[in-house]
Amino acid sequence: PLKLGVLASGSGSNFEAIANAIQNGQLNAQIQVLIYNQPQAYAAVRAANWNVPSVLLNHRDYNSREDLDRQIVQTLRQYNVEFVVMAGWMRLVTQVLIDAFPHRIINIHPSLLPSFKGVRAVEQALAAGVKITGCTVHLVSLEMDSGPILIQAAVPIMPDDTPEKLHARIQLQEHQILPQAIALTAQKLQALNTTS
Ligand code: GAR
Repeated sequence: PLKLGVLASGSGSNFEAIANAIQNGQLNAQIQVLIYNQPQAYAAVRAANWNVPSVLLNHRDYNSREDLDRQIVQTLRQYNVEFVVMAGWMRLVTQVLIDAFPHRIINIHPSLLPSFKGVRAVEQALAAGVKITGCTVHLVSLEMDSGPILIQAAVPIMPDDTPEKLHARIQLQEHQILPQAIALTAQKLQALNTTS
């Protein structure tokens, strides 16, 4: 099983989707640790319910993004993590984290990238009047919400949509494609390991 580390800032519904996919046998992996940065993040409650260790690394306790990322890397190593999943991680990452896990960090974002990067992607899609939005899983690079795209899913926008209603429908798709993207990447990593 691929040893995962999950980074989350909020409710953790994507964490839950990964845990479910592992339990259902859809994903050959194991969540070694959840790292979260908001003390009240519900993701930590979910981790406890799944008996997954969780570690609070509050960004307010660090002087720079690099300092936080150094602590993240140390924690991921401590838990023998091989592959990192940002599941609603609302912090910009630095070269410190990227260099520690080259090609081994993915992120889920609630838009069809490269449209609507950033923290207000759902609101921006509504405001722009697009008729279709969705979600994207991509490899993480230094630039926010960039990096090679792995999987996307489309979600139609309804005339009476609110950000909340739309985001809920996008998240249903996220819960499908995030475990799929991990499985896909895990297969590729395994192929690399067996041929070398
Ligand atoms: C997800 O919709 C994810 O796409 C988004 O945060 C939500 C977390 O939900 N991420 C971003 O906006 C990153 N810029 P969750 O905590 O229930 O998994």
